[in-house]
Amino acid sequence: MSRRKKVYEGKAKILYEGPEAGTLIAHFKDDATAFNNQKQGQIEGKGVINNRISEYLMTRLDGIGVPNHFIRRLNMREQLVRKVEIIPLEMVCRNVAAGTICKRFGLSEGEKLPRPIIEYYLKDDDLGDPLVSEDHISAFGWAAPPEMDDMIAMTFRVNDFLSGLFCAIGIQLIDFKLEFGRQFEGDLVRVILADEISPDSCRLWDVKTNRKLDKDRFRQDLGDVPEAYAEVARRLGVLKEPPNLTVVKAKDA
Ligand code: TMP
Repeated sequence: MSRRKKVYEGKAKILYEGPEAGTLIAHFKDDATAFNNQKQGQIEGKGVINNRISEYLMTRLDGIGVPNHFIRRLNMREQLVRKVEIIPLEMVCRNVAAGTICKRFGLSEGEKLPRPIIEYYLKDDDLGDPLVSEDHISAFGWAAPPEMDDMIAMTFRVNDFLSGLFCAIGIQLIDFKLEFGRQFEGDLVRVILADEISPDSCRLWDVKTNRKLDKDRFRQDLGDVPEAYAEVARRLGVLKEPPNLTVVKAKDA
């Protein structure tokens, strides 16, 4: 493999310099972390599956006019993406109570929320990605108010579209996390969707059985983690022959 310049390494992906100006190569790893790195492990084949799932979902979103960083898939684990300046926020959209919102507001897992709710978290591992308000965001300059308007509108659009797309394959979209970035084109800046959309960043439940088909299987030690990821890919039609996958390591740090 040719020597490439690593630009950034995160928990689930490595970014390398791309072949053309303004591009990066995203390499999807099998590494999995939860609870801000306290739990670490590997889900064999996850990188291959998430590369495919994210390719598919980003392509479909581009088709409905949600601009995003995906350009093309390069190989099993890598995709070419547009280079952006990541906005340091995690936009979480929730339809049904699960995860941290249950503890925060005393809700039961599976309770339908009155309407989709968007929350903002500051992307800062050292601080444990704290929940922040729109006023924090504008006061500290993490994103400008017009950028927030765009991100909120796109997040609701993604929620509507993906809820329908998953419903059609018997999956309920419980919640998900999006990240956005600034793309610079000459004097123009626009906010586009970045990062990935996969069972790492969504909660996905089987409509009939409520079986979890996402990273909660890893977070909660429910077993059959790679099988759940492969099931999502299979239902989306992006993985015809799921490889024989197993969790090779999962330890509490
Ligand atoms: P939470 O219930 O743990 O706050 O998570 C809400 C959604 O955001 C869930 O679908 C998982 C996703 N998520 C990430 O993708 N990355 C993260 O670092 C966190 C905390 C959540």
